[in-house]
Amino acid sequence: MDPLRFIETMILKTKGQKCALFLSESAAKRYHFEPMIERLSKTSQLTWIKTSYSTPDYHDLASTLRSLKGLEFDVFIAIGGGSCLDLAKSTAAFIDFSKDDVSDEDLLKIIKDKTYLSQTTRPQLIAVPTTAGSGSELTRWAILWDFDHEEKLSIETPHLAFDEAYIVVEFTLSMPLKLTLSTGLDALTQASEAYWAKSTTPSVQVLALQAIRLIVRNLPRVLADPYDYEFRKNMMIGSILGAMAFSNTKTTACHSISYPLTLKFKMDHGLACALTLGDILRHNLSALSNPESVYEAFNINNPEQVTQWIEKLSEGIVSMRLSDYGVKESDLETLAHLSFTLGRMENNPIDLNEQQVQDILKLHL
Ligand SMILES: [Fe+2]
Repeated sequence: MDPLRFIETMILKTKGQKCALFLSESAAKRYHFEPMIERLSKTSQLTWIKTSYSTPDYHDLASTLRSLKGLEFDVFIAIGGGSCLDLAKSTAAFIDFSKDDVSDEDLLKIIKDKTYLSQTTRPQLIAVPTTAGSGSELTRWAILWDFDHEEKLSIETPHLAFDEAYIVVEFTLSMPLKLTLSTGLDALTQASEAYWAKSTTPSVQVLALQAIRLIVRNLPRVLADPYDYEFRKNMMIGSILGAMAFSNTKTTACHSISYPLTLKFKMDHGLACALTLGDILRHNLSALSNPESVYEAFNINNPEQVTQWIEKLSEGIVSMRLSDYGVKESDLETLAHLSFTLGRMENNPIDLNEQQVQDILKLHL
């Protein structure tokens, strides 16, 4: 959608409504949203939630809910990357708890006990992704981190599914290279995992292969020429197709192994997921019904070339070596032990044991 048409649509949609806008101040500046915010504040009852979280944790959700105490909303608009979208939809799915002063500890209990499933209504949810990767605009789950206890908190309810998503390719043009790389690799890993997940289907595989083709061919181009509209558009289509695929299957070993790397060593989500993509492809080969189609989509002759391609792609942008994130050989046993995330590792078509995960991680030290 054209950016100006997008702004007019938002003004019309929220006219006279109680509206919460989830948007960081830096994104507001980068995309020149100030005039839109000024207009929205005149045409609707606007609350601007200035998000600034790159990996939102349960404290961020608790403080957002407390900041909304006593307020009611008709609609939430989230403009940003996966973290912004996840925070907005989590706030909507937990909005009943904003009526009281929910403490951080109470919220953690609500998440773990799944008390949030009792909520029956929520504001309308509109997503405007500004990265091509997370797929948050299409899934009914959200990731919240618990850095205190080094745990990933997955929340899942139909209330987390956005009602509408608006794709404005122009908003992705100014994405920094590192974010372009990590979100693009996240989308690639999600699509690959949808293809080979135990829960995959033939139609998911068609979507996943097309997503892989588009991302593999366009990610190097967009990193070399970030302001090219066509390359950015193809990345966005690849990301959406991948999200349509993995929203039906969930992810597998790559995501499962990535979580402790992000929790303990702050490695970006997309980089941590893609780190083991070639290794897990190699491991899963015997379970693939049509490995040639995967090779064709990746434009490779063997799984090792996936790892080489990712390493080459990241050169000069970010390190893909675990030692650069502070990981030591003595950490690998613990990392491998923590890699078995419920619902993700069992979704891998071939079983892995802790020693195999440790051996894979050792390749990337
Ligand atoms: Fe992901």
